[in-house]
Amino acid sequence: MKFFVDTAEVAEIKDLAASGLLDGVTTNPSLILKSGRPMLEVIKEICAIVPGPVSAETVATNHAKMLEEGRKLAKLAKNIAVKVPLTPDGLKTCKVLSSEGTMVNVTLCFSAAQALLAAKAGATFISPFVGRLDDIGQDGMHLIDEIMAIYRQYPHFKTEVLVASVRHTQHVVQAAKMGAHVATVPPNVLRQCFKHVLTDNGLKAFLDDWAKTGQSIL
Ligand code: G3P
Repeated sequence: MKFFVDTAEVAEIKDLAASGLLDGVTTNPSLILKSGRPMLEVIKEICAIVPGPVSAETVATNHAKMLEEGRKLAKLAKNIAVKVPLTPDGLKTCKVLSSEGTMVNVTLCFSAAQALLAAKAGATFISPFVGRLDDIGQDGMHLIDEIMAIYRQYPHFKTEVLVASVRHTQHVVQAAKMGAHVATVPPNVLRQCFKHVLTDNGLKAFLDDWAKTGQSIL
């Protein structure tokens, strides 16, 4: 499973990229707002740090304008994936951009029917939002299971399932068990994946004993 990080904070991205864990980055208008930086500038910077797909989201709601925005975003770097919403205009835009060779991430997916349409429109990625479904009392990961089952029936679908709105490490583990292609993970959740209290305790015990030997490796 590929790991994307869901942030527009360049310092975080640089740090996580150094660990070799990052396969890509996803952003959205809310994350751009949080970064406090001009979108086009920050996206270009991210594209230079991470070679994998970097999602940049369109904000127009009608097809013509969305396509214009998408084409502009696609020109920023070779590794841009243009994000469009799961609306009729969004899927129309997806179809055109995909046929032009641009990667497209169809976002705001909350149902299996929507995911089926996105695959038919030639999306590179479909982004079902699991955390936001959990928030309203539905089972976000069940949606991933459904989409994976549908896509498996049609091997000609090339769309990758990108698990989004990830809130905790169990979302990541379940996504991997279901064979999801990608999880986009907030930096804090990605860091949580490293953590286990027995790792910390075990390391401390080994280092304490090592100090008692009076030896050094170097
Ligand atoms: O970028 C899309 C998605 O990951 C947003 O997550 O936490 O705002 O529901 P969240």
